[in-house]
Amino acid sequence: MEKLMISGGRPLQGTVTISGAKNSAIALIPAAILAESEVILDNLPLLSDVAVYSEILEELGATVSWDGNSMRIDPSHIISLPMPNGPVKNLRASYYMMGALLGRFKEATIGLPGGCNFEPRPIDQHIKGFEALGATVTNEHGAIHLHAKELKGAKIYLDVVSVGATINIMLAATRAKGSTIIENAAKEPEIIDVATLLNSMGASIKGAGTETIRIEGKSELHGCRHSIIPDRIQAGTYMIAAAATRGNVLIDNVIPKHLEALTAKLIEMGVGIEELDESIRVIGKPSYEHVDVKALVYPGFATDLQSPMTSLLTQAQGVSVLSDFVYSNRFKHVPELIRMGAKIRVEGRSAIIEGHSLNAAKVKAADLRAGAALVIAGLTVEEGVTEVGGVEFIDRGYDNLVTNLRELGADVWRQTL
Ligand code: EPZ
Repeated sequence: MEKLMISGGRPLQGTVTISGAKNSAIALIPAAILAESEVILDNLPLLSDVAVYSEILEELGATVSWDGNSMRIDPSHIISLPMPNGPVKNLRASYYMMGALLGRFKEATIGLPGGCNFEPRPIDQHIKGFEALGATVTNEHGAIHLHAKELKGAKIYLDVVSVGATINIMLAATRAKGSTIIENAAKEPEIIDVATLLNSMGASIKGAGTETIRIEGKSELHGCRHSIIPDRIQAGTYMIAAAATRGNVLIDNVIPKHLEALTAKLIEMGVGIEELDESIRVIGKPSYEHVDVKALVYPGFATDLQSPMTSLLTQAQGVSVLSDFVYSNRFKHVPELIRMGAKIRVEGRSAIIEGHSLNAAKVKAADLRAGAALVIAGLTVEEGVTEVGGVEFIDRGYDNLVTNLRELGADVWRQTL
């Protein structure tokens, strides 16, 4: 076990290059199962979830090889094996194996997902979609069994706007007979990224990124090469860290449009922002205005950035209100920030944050983005060393975090517990 040690009070300066999107990668890798020939994915982030996924595909008989950040997957000899336990249990997004295996083999047995533990993560909308396509879905001893004599296109209305359900249903529908319409679909950029891969494999998907997605099923899909979009959440985290430390950082390899909601909020606070074609410069200021933030589905403010944003709002003057309308209980970082002297109270879906400087303390991350929030908080502390436990969570979403922060001038190091 390790912890991150942070001696803060140093403005971040320089350039950080953003890697491929985690939440694309862990959908694109299982999507490769749907092809009958080699798929190459470029710009993959080197994260533990990605490594677990390549292990899962090899277990099923795929040939997987790496060349830097590129993964070559040959799924031509893959078979559908039940995976009630084992590596799938270490992933939140193992559920994408359901849509991929159902699409390719009309059957799958997958252990229920694990992953971040900030609240129960239902998959009822995924199952609703699979059943609409003709699959029988049962839950036995914590594993989901799916089977279909035939997958037939259907019209599916999602009761909840869900990224996972939208992608998972899209995966299965690409190999169904006939056309599928997903209504009330999520619009996140990662959904467009998966649809782009599937269309390069010969699928026919229209409307990804809008609330209505149309998929014409195909009997076979072929291999292709695809480069993953940059990680907008990783980029947003570094933007927030640059503002919180009053630094001057160029965040390179981003799609600025994916960060519009955050950029607008930072400008509202008084942070300096310069937008270029594929990068954003963040210029910190001595003082910030308080703002109200609502975490919503895309293109609203990303829920994955609400915990890092909470740390920045402790640096604003006055009282800010941050509400999360996607997850009702994603405030596990708040008690830890309070241990650092933050003045925050949680009321229902909202955190009320009074601007106040923070002190060094021993804190612990309970999930991936809470960990990022605690690192950012530690970077703002002028005196002393903040110790952040739960590094294993942080490593699931931020590759090269310590290297990147040190290159930006932060005094951060890992220490074995
Ligand atoms: C994806 O999770 C991301 N994870 C999450 O990022 C992100 O927070 C979330 O989308 C929202 O943007 C991955 O892509 C691997 P949802 P997902 O289905 O797909 C409810 C991170 O930190 N819901 O869009 O699981 C659900 O409870 C992670 O990188 C149902 O009720 O999220 C939630 O309230 C954390 N039934 C809301 O919908 C379902 O069947 C949105 O969840 C599915 C979801």
